[in-house]
Amino acid sequence: MAAPLRSATAKLGNLLQDAKKEWRKKPKKATPKKHKPHYSKGLDVWVHDTSEVWLPATVTSVGKDGSLCVRFEDGKESTVQSKGDYPPVSGSTQRCEQTDDLTTLSPLCEAAVLHCLRSRFRSGSCSTSAGATLIAVNPFKELEGCYGEDVVQRYTEGSKTKPPHVYGMAERAYSQMEQGLGPVNQSIIVSGESGAGKTWTARCLMTYLATVAVYNPGCFEPSPGDCIKSRILDSNPILEAFGNAGTARNYNSSRFGKYIQLQFDRGQHIIGASIQTYLLEKTRVVHQSTGERNFHIFYQLYQGASTEEKACLGLGLPNHHIKYLPMQAVTDKALDDCQAFKMTREAMSNVGLSQDKQMDVFQVLSGLLHLGNISFTSDGELEPCDIDEDNKDYQLSRDFATTLLGLDGEQLEKSLMFRKITATHSKRKSVFMRPCTVEEAGTRRDCMAKLLYARLFDWLVAFINKSTCAGQWHSFIGLLDIYGFESFQSNSLEQLCINYANEKLQQHFVAHFLRAEQEEYSIEGIPWQFFSFADNQPCLDVIEGKCSIFSFLNEECRLNRQTDASAFSTRLLDGINGKHIYKPPVAVRSPAFIVKHYADDVTYSAHGLIEKNKDHIPVELIELAAGSTNPFVSKLVQMDLVEHEIQAAKNGKVQAKTVVSKFKTSLDSLMTILTSTAPHYIRCIKPNLACQPDIFDSSHVVSQLRACGVLETIAISAKGFPARIPYAEFSQRYRALYHTKREPTPSLPATNDDKTAKAFCLSVVERIFGDEDKENAKVGAQFGKTKVFLRSGQLEEMEGLRAQALTQAASCIQRSWRRHQRQQKVRRLEAATLIQAAYRGWKVRQCLEIMNDAARVIQQAMLEYSIRKQQEREQQRLEQESTEQVLLEKSLAEDDNPGSVDSCSSEDEEFHECRDRLSALMEHPIPASHGSHPITQPLRSLSGGLMDLHAPQTLPLYNTGILPRRCSKCGSVAKPPPDPRMDDLDGDEDDDDKTRQEEDTGTTERSLGRTLVSIFKKPAVDFALAAVVTALLLKGPVHF
Ligand SMILES: Nc1ncnc2c1ncn2[C@@H]1O[C@H](COP(=O)(O)OP(=O)(O)OP(=O)(O)O)[C@@H](O)[C@H]1O
Ligand SMILES: [Mg+2]
Repeated sequence: MAAPLRSATAKLGNLLQDAKKEWRKKPKKATPKKHKPHYSKGLDVWVHDTSEVWLPATVTSVGKDGSLCVRFEDGKESTVQSKGDYPPVSGSTQRCEQTDDLTTLSPLCEAAVLHCLRSRFRSGSCSTSAGATLIAVNPFKELEGCYGEDVVQRYTEGSKTKPPHVYGMAERAYSQMEQGLGPVNQSIIVSGESGAGKTWTARCLMTYLATVAVYNPGCFEPSPGDCIKSRILDSNPILEAFGNAGTARNYNSSRFGKYIQLQFDRGQHIIGASIQTYLLEKTRVVHQSTGERNFHIFYQLYQGASTEEKACLGLGLPNHHIKYLPMQAVTDKALDDCQAFKMTREAMSNVGLSQDKQMDVFQVLSGLLHLGNISFTSDGELEPCDIDEDNKDYQLSRDFATTLLGLDGEQLEKSLMFRKITATHSKRKSVFMRPCTVEEAGTRRDCMAKLLYARLFDWLVAFINKSTCAGQWHSFIGLLDIYGFESFQSNSLEQLCINYANEKLQQHFVAHFLRAEQEEYSIEGIPWQFFSFADNQPCLDVIEGKCSIFSFLNEECRLNRQTDASAFSTRLLDGINGKHIYKPPVAVRSPAFIVKHYADDVTYSAHGLIEKNKDHIPVELIELAAGSTNPFVSKLVQMDLVEHEIQAAKNGKVQAKTVVSKFKTSLDSLMTILTSTAPHYIRCIKPNLACQPDIFDSSHVVSQLRACGVLETIAISAKGFPARIPYAEFSQRYRALYHTKREPTPSLPATNDDKTAKAFCLSVVERIFGDEDKENAKVGAQFGKTKVFLRSGQLEEMEGLRAQALTQAASCIQRSWRRHQRQQKVRRLEAATLIQAAYRGWKVRQCLEIMNDAARVIQQAMLEYSIRKQQEREQQRLEQESTEQVLLEKSLAEDDNPGSVDSCSSEDEEFHECRDRLSALMEHPIPASHGSHPITQPLRSLSGGLMDLHAPQTLPLYNTGILPRRCSKCGSVAKPPPDPRMDDLDGDEDDDDKTRQEEDTGTTERSLGRTLVSIFKKPAVDFALAAVVTALLLKGPVHF
């Protein structure tokens, strides 16, 4: 990440250097003369008003002295003196009220901008577009239907233009990151004074980006993307609980700055986040101005902890006051704090903080509060101090502090009341303890509390980062929510740093928008009328330059001498040149100095500035905390101990970094990141100082608009070209828009061939914007030396057209592909049907052939059998007739000697025997291996094979010409006469031979049939045939 960042910064630096040279070479442009409006009766003008600053009014008459009689919209009349400074209202005031883009105001003036913002605020629309920036006025109330899921959804749909919204800004950054035109990394800088709504806005941006970029493959519940999203969003309540506090300007004021980097993968899915924090206002732990609060977490813990937890932590004890928590503030918002504590704990659990770790954190917090109750007393102001035993809360608090923080009571008191002094005399070190005064001991106690709280905050941020930061990412969108500009009655080092950060951001804004943009037009040869702007470099020189407030402060720390506050302020005022620092009026008694900031003049008190800058932590206190029996506490101060040891090893030659030096370094690195990304600005505006809904304090709003250069931004945005794209990139991206039915898309110009690329881009732009409005094509986009410059809205239009063209192309490809697939499918289906039909027909034919063969064999056998039988019967009959004849003769002879005769005739006997044998055979079939019947076997197989094909089916009945017989006596139906070949079962060898002979005649035919049947019966064959069919199906159409 570092290398591209460095090269990007170097490139930007070179560009700015070149631009500066060009700028210097150029003769200064004369500021265009202002044309005085010509006032006449009936003209609508903007008139000054004491409360509303500007109001629309109609001129009723014009005096000879230039005075104007005007009538306001509410009917009131007034006479005003004008020197041509009342701008006319162009068109109607209604147009001004209805527009949501300030760049469309014509003529553009402060009055029109203010009126537009005011009317929009009153109608419940708080976001207004100001060219490339967004102006968000804080409504101080929940606007219905403004931030729901459906609104997020609406802003993700890229087609139609939507009303200005914070989500719109987030979407712009996200889509720019997706498109990759210009820097892929983006930053959204949210600025505005304290209470203007920066934190709220940053939260909305985070929610939007985390929602639209969440990765949800749909196979996990909850999806990994949702887990990351909830972890990232849960960092907010934790950071706000530990880093926000109630101030006179904002009940939820951020007492630290933060830059959240939302990390994305190649597919623009959110995969993590990392948080960088800046300068926590740790003095708030030990001191709050009247009406202000300590950090929220203390109150949340005090109100929200369970009874057992409170008992453990020594909170809520009767008649026990905590010095660091003014009781009024504790009880004021008890219910809110209680609920907020639940949310904080939930968020802590979600980011992975176990219940034990949470308890460790609460122990430190509670230990700090008890530490604050340790007070000192002495006989005189400069006398050595002692423990204030009279303080009734002392003993209890001392016990709780030592137990919770794991410190030794006596050691703690000693470290607070005695200072370790190390003196070096001719290489000999002597250490002795010097007793402290009451003030010194109090300062040491507070120092310990501040140290522990600051390290706890850092530990929490590091923990959150560990839980949310992705190891590698492709791109990021940074959200900057840094403390707003502050000006209190008494301002100290914290306000100086905060206001310095705001000056830096303002400079970045000016450099990016007002200067760099205009300089780029001149470098690229774009006709441009320069707009003047307020440059805050002189103010920054006063704060951070070579001879500046910071340099004086650091010098004092380096010299490590006792310096009186008034002497220091005099030294500052005498030593620093420039109009941006001056002496306060005589009325201000305490030593102070005033700095002229871009937003306002701020009076800084010189008291305690040097000490705060030193931020000296006595080594005794570090060692005491490092030796704590509570491992969590000793871990918190490990880094301080290491730093101290390094310093000691170098014999104090390495100076500890001062607060302003550390702050400047971290701010510089932030500015480097911001410069390397594509910035987007959201200007938050606070509508009134009382933080009340439905109140629009015009004068307060105007001062904010003036301070942050909103007017200049709108003017430049209205006339300027927010989108600047190098020719090569442009032709690559918008090549799709060239395509027409008549002309083919030309081949892409070479990346280094700017001339051809320019011609290509020109034709694309003309094609898009030229047809409807030739004039617009010329005035709209501009073609510089290396880039195309597009006006506001043109890029969006082109993107819309590109998306449309791509969608059309995609749907055309999809259509063709689907048609092709369908055709393929139909062909395959036809082929498969054909193959299957052919196969089935073949198989049925095969089976029928076998069946016919079998039937023929059976019929023949039956025929032969019946003929033979008939012959036998005939013979028997003849024999019987002859026997009967003999018997008749015999009986005639034996008439006188009658004998018994069988009840059934011999024919009937034969019939019964035959029937019994057959039924016995049917009941006990003979195993196939022992000679199953050669005909029945193939028949069985055959019927099985046929069953497979056409089940259920019965075999056709073949007429053999033999009718079933009935017994003449008992009437039972006779089975067909037994096959003579069955006789072989009885072991009749003659019959056996006979059968074998008969078999031999049809063996070839039958065995072929059997083989075929058995082949087709095999599943493997079926499978093979199915495989052939499938292969044919897959391979493609088969042409017959
Ligand atoms: N868009 C909004 N809709 C409703 N309420 C809002 C909105 N923006 C801000 N607020 C309200 O205004 C209060 C102050 O806003 P916020 O804390 O974001 O200010 P800030 O600019 O971050 O101030 P500071 O610099 O002191 O941290 C919020 O607590 C919230 O109640
Ligand atoms: Mg804030």
